[in-house]
Amino acid sequence: MKYNIALLKGDGIGPEIVDSAVSILNQIAVKFGHEFTYNALLAGGCAIDATGVPLPEETLKACLESDSVLLGAVGGPKWDTLPGNLRPEKALLGVRKGLGLYSNIRPAKLYAALKDRCPLRTVSDFDIVIIRELTGGIYFGTSGRRNGELGEEAFDTECYSVTEIERIGKVAFETAMKRKKKLVSIDKANVLESSRLWRERMHKLSEAYPEVEYSDMLVDNAAMQLIKNPAQFDVIVTSNMFGDILSDEASQLTGSIGMLPSASLGDTKCGMYEPIHGSAPDIAGKGISNPIATILSAAMMLRYSFDLEEEANCIDTAVETALNNGFLTVDIGGTMTTKEITEKILELI
Ligand code: IPM
Ligand code: MG
Repeated sequence: MKYNIALLKGDGIGPEIVDSAVSILNQIAVKFGHEFTYNALLAGGCAIDATGVPLPEETLKACLESDSVLLGAVGGPKWDTLPGNLRPEKALLGVRKGLGLYSNIRPAKLYAALKDRCPLRTVSDFDIVIIRELTGGIYFGTSGRRNGELGEEAFDTECYSVTEIERIGKVAFETAMKRKKKLVSIDKANVLESSRLWRERMHKLSEAYPEVEYSDMLVDNAAMQLIKNPAQFDVIVTSNMFGDILSDEASQLTGSIGMLPSASLGDTKCGMYEPIHGSAPDIAGKGISNPIATILSAAMMLRYSFDLEEEANCIDTAVETALNNGFLTVDIGGTMTTKEITEKILELI
């Protein structure tokens, strides 16, 4: 089969990790007889430098016309002083919104080979999937600056509609059904009205999934429980902002943020796939970045957007075998460069 993939390499380490994932995809194409074509587009800081805006219209249009999008990372200190609507991150938010990608799937599991990289003193194996709402909440609510009683102030608004809650809830319950049938919804219902509506609707939805062991948890407690006993979680569903924070926390438990892939999906097959980490400007260009999160994101693309389960498993297995063989980049205690680890994974495929 033929698939057209939009590449948003972005900034910092973005280009090197996307190039690594593309070489893996090319190997898969050869092995399984597919054809992947790529359309490299500007997004983020590099787009600002070239065109003045973080997400050129042409980029969004090409993403909409592609079969899927693979993104590296956007942002960096160079663009940190720009006003909010011109920051590189706007590109990411714009593609998520523009493509209607309301559900963000972030798996966090502890690889046997990386057990000693987990910062917890005692840890039993965990395998968690965080389902983060991605196109609503405080990220997209009304915001601004104004003169208040105490002088200048700024505000951001958290707002969730029943429609938004129910559609992400469904994704979470369906995901739980395919796994250990355990779902925890995380909110701040003791304080926030939007969380109370969220909780109400999740409870209602749970009636349709009697097989799923459902519970809710306040976000502050959840932050603690993730450290105390991550193995208690199977699937987590939460809002945009809480998901952003908790997925970074979960990533550290796996040993490195350089390991975690993600899939952003909507109602069509076209999704966006990206590592959960950022552009790491401090190590950009040194050739030492860990490409695994992006490679695993490419595997998720094959699985979710193209229904190529066997091909996706082939990548997952190659990565796991590489780790088991001690092929490790610097962030996970090894000495390999981006190129060297990519070569090893290619060989294993
Ligand atoms: C993520 C990132 C983004 C987010 C930033 C870069 C806008 O932190 O994908 O988790 O907050 O969603
Ligand atoms: Mg984040």
